[in-house]
Amino acid sequence: MSGPDPCQLRVILGSTRPVRAGEPVARWVFETIQQRHDVAAEFIDLAEVNLPFLDEPRQPSDGDYQHEHTRRWSAMIEPVDAVILVIPEYNHSFNAATKNALDFLYHEWRYKAVGIVCYGGGARGTRAAQHLKPVLSALRMIHVGDVAVGLSEVDVTEGRLEPPARLQHQLGVLLDEAVRLTPHLRQLRQVGPGGQ
Ligand SMILES: Cc1cc2nc3c(=O)[nH]c(=O)nc-3n(C[C@H](O)[C@H](O)[C@H](O)COP(=O)(O)O)c2cc1C
Repeated sequence: MSGPDPCQLRVILGSTRPVRAGEPVARWVFETIQQRHDVAAEFIDLAEVNLPFLDEPRQPSDGDYQHEHTRRWSAMIEPVDAVILVIPEYNHSFNAATKNALDFLYHEWRYKAVGIVCYGGGARGTRAAQHLKPVLSALRMIHVGDVAVGLSEVDVTEGRLEPPARLQHQLGVLLDEAVRLTPHLRQLRQVGPGGQ
């Protein structure tokens, strides 16, 4: 007997800098998910997606994309149920590459579950997460939780993050919630686009 379709999830690494602290954070998230049978995950690195600053002549809500890079990005997000945005805190907010990548699309984000894994110094990236939430709300994404990683509080050995049990538990709770909402959000998306 086969179970329900697994939640199709993408872990999106938002930092595009070379030698990013975000890479071990995002890898930890991805490897945690790979141990679950109820989630099918892929890793998306915004540095590889390599979007320019938003250069579409039409509004993203029109869904009429002129550029191949936008169509490619749309095709990466359109089929998924959920995303986890792994974001750094830059100047008390989240980074521009993440905002740009979100702004490029519209309907593709709608009624998708979204978890935030933020990281940074003393505030553990929480100011970035707080700035991101109204953006997700404008896109009608459904927030399923935050995990805040203090970079001075975690060990990274050979590129692998060794999380404290508290963070591992929080990530598990976030993923459980994304899985729990998945069938309900699939139903909502079937109804078709709403107003702006
Ligand atoms: C432009 C910039 C601004 C930063 N501003 C903050 C900040 O406001 N709060 C904070 O905790 N860390 C801040 N930092 C430190 C970052 O949290 C740290 O450099 C982290 O490694 C950035 O993530 P990344 O390496 O994945 O890009 C900033 C770093 C950069 C590059």
